[in-house]
Amino acid sequence: MHLAQSLTALRLDPESSTPMFRQLYDAIKAAILSGQITPGVQLPPTREFALLLGVSRQTVLNAFSQLMAEGFLSGTIGKGTFVSHSLSIALTRGKPDVPAPHPAPLRPLSNRGQCFVGEKIRLNTHQGTPRPFRIGMPGIDVFPFDVWARLEARRWRRPVDPLGYGDPAGYRPLRELLAAYLRASRGVHCTAEQIIVTSGSQQALFLIATMLLAPGDAAWMEDPGYQGIGALLHAVQAKICPIPVDEQGISIAHGMAHHADAKLAYVTPSHQYPLGVTMSLQRRLELLDWAAKNRMWVVEDEYDSDYRYTGRPLASLQSLDRSGCVIYVGTLSKVLFPGLRLGYLVAPPALVEAFSQGKGVLDRHTAIVPQIVLSDFIAEGHFSRHIRRTREIYAERRTALLESLDAMLADEIRLGPTDAGLHIAGAFVNEHDDKAVAEAALRKGIEVRALSRFYATPDRSASGLLLGFATATPDDIRRGVATLKEVLKG
Ligand SMILES: Cc1ncc(COP(=O)(O)O)c(C=O)c1O
Repeated sequence: MHLAQSLTALRLDPESSTPMFRQLYDAIKAAILSGQITPGVQLPPTREFALLLGVSRQTVLNAFSQLMAEGFLSGTIGKGTFVSHSLSIALTRGKPDVPAPHPAPLRPLSNRGQCFVGEKIRLNTHQGTPRPFRIGMPGIDVFPFDVWARLEARRWRRPVDPLGYGDPAGYRPLRELLAAYLRASRGVHCTAEQIIVTSGSQQALFLIATMLLAPGDAAWMEDPGYQGIGALLHAVQAKICPIPVDEQGISIAHGMAHHADAKLAYVTPSHQYPLGVTMSLQRRLELLDWAAKNRMWVVEDEYDSDYRYTGRPLASLQSLDRSGCVIYVGTLSKVLFPGLRLGYLVAPPALVEAFSQGKGVLDRHTAIVPQIVLSDFIAEGHFSRHIRRTREIYAERRTALLESLDAMLADEIRLGPTDAGLHIAGAFVNEHDDKAVAEAALRKGIEVRALSRFYATPDRSASGLLLGFATATPDDIRRGVATLKEVLKG
């Protein structure tokens, strides 16, 4: 088609919400990319072009200057405007604006990238408002959002803190407060320097696994265990060593006998995830002794240990560490809520500088505003008040769950330890396919998780359920257990 013809055929719509210059810009760009107007061709002078199209000259000038800035046109407006010569190479390579017929990537993922995807390591997400027995979730109905909003609004009124790129390890006052809290409540040996604030504990674990494990390095994880760490160890191409858990916690003897070369062990000593077992003192000492002698890092994940219903929270494994092998990891996801994405690690002194730099490379630092608000929340006493209050509320919800299970399903579910955390695990007494039970329960409006999903070794796996009790009121919990009874007893 002749240039003048193809340009006058351009249809611009004055009624459209897209500005006229933008429509003209899109049309000329499309004509260039589709080869309708070829490199080197001169476009009409702006005044003439405006008359041809019935638009203002300014519209044409704006479209031309944008196309020049992006390299589609060259020359000088007023002295001749041309389709850039340099486009001829690019245009022979294809038509960038034409979408690919199918969504396959241009090239496959890298070997490393492939380790980050796959059904086996897809992490669970929460959908919609919590229904009874959702796990991994605190009671959002009892969070003091009014206080949080007030603290945040106050900070925005007088933003005195630096809002530029900050210390990768996090907001200093928050690190001071977290260090004091961990020393007092868990006996963690730490100073503020050792605390690195992360985007959830998942990022803390990612930093640890990436910086301490090479592909092929062996790492112990509990079996059954936390899917978040399993996915991560897979992603960093570690050799995953599932270690059985008994009533004293992870079996150190099994680890020593079968995977003596491990470079790292991931454990949840206060409240084993998902079974709820507390690691015995003997196991703790065995683990630390083995780790010190074999130079194995121990990652202690304390994800929900603020909630203990039969006494005070337990002292951490880190508090017994004399060799600097324990990296302590914590989260605000259970005390506050997961969407906040705030967690932290306590690095042994020898790793502080490396982790801090590594965190900077990952994402500079965790978003500063939630860190600032959290500091005020802690410093002004709201944090400890919230923990005290939710301990009471969750204790009541837990009691409702235990009593209803005892009344309605004692012959179906044998419970594990129930003295801590926000969920309980129970094994089926009779034969049930726990995944099928979870699906049937969901159809009836309750969320339970199949226990067998948490096992890496199918032979060791137990069929049962995980039941969260923090998100629902005692009445909803009782109704939920009645529904579960219908599912199990048909
Ligand atoms: C064992 C364990 N660790 C950590 C977390 C918290 O992860 P994050 O801090 O990334 O929200 C969870 C959440 O369910 C968990 O079960």
